[in-house]
Amino acid sequence: MKFFADTAEIDAIKELAETGLLDGVTTNPSLIAKSGRDFMEVTKEICGLTDGPVSAEVVALDHPTMMKEAEVLRKIADNVCIKVPLTMEGLKTCKALSGEGTMVNVTLCFSATQALLAAKAGATFVSPFVGRHDDNGTDGMDLIRDIRLIYDNYAFETEILVASVRHVTHVLESARIGADVMTAPPKVIHALVRHVLTDKGIDGFMKDWGSTGQSIL
Ligand code: E4P
Repeated sequence: MKFFADTAEIDAIKELAETGLLDGVTTNPSLIAKSGRDFMEVTKEICGLTDGPVSAEVVALDHPTMMKEAEVLRKIADNVCIKVPLTMEGLKTCKALSGEGTMVNVTLCFSATQALLAAKAGATFVSPFVGRHDDNGTDGMDLIRDIRLIYDNYAFETEILVASVRHVTHVLESARIGADVMTAPPKVIHALVRHVLTDKGIDGFMKDWGSTGQSIL
């Protein structure tokens, strides 16, 4: 499963890139606002930190203007992936852009039938939002199971990009189901590393090693 960082914070992206765990980045208008940076400038900088896809979202709601915005965004770098909302206008834009060989991430997906439409429109990625489903009292992971089943039934190549990931269990379940990608805030990716028994084990080994009086270097 590929790991994307769901952030526009440069330092956090750099840190993850150094671990070799980073396969791409997703941004959205809220994350750009949170960064306080200029959209074009920060997106260009992010594109230089990973060879993987960097999702940059259009903000127009109609197809012709989405196409114009996409034209500007895809000039930023070769690894820009145009993010469009799961609306009829967004799907039209997805169809047109993917037909031209541009990567497209169809976002704000909340149902398996919406995901079916995204695949039919030629999306590179579909982004089902699991955390927001959970917030709403429904199990977001059921949506991922349904999309996996449907995409496998028809051998769709659209990758399932699990979004709105809030905790380690979302990542575990995504991997169990066979999602292609998950995008998570850096703090969730860092939380994947930690285990209390790992810390306890290191403490024990350090104590015993100290008692030997030896050193490797
Ligand atoms: C996906 O690409 C979105 O940027 C993101 O995962 C949304 O997450 P949120 O529901 O935590 O805002």
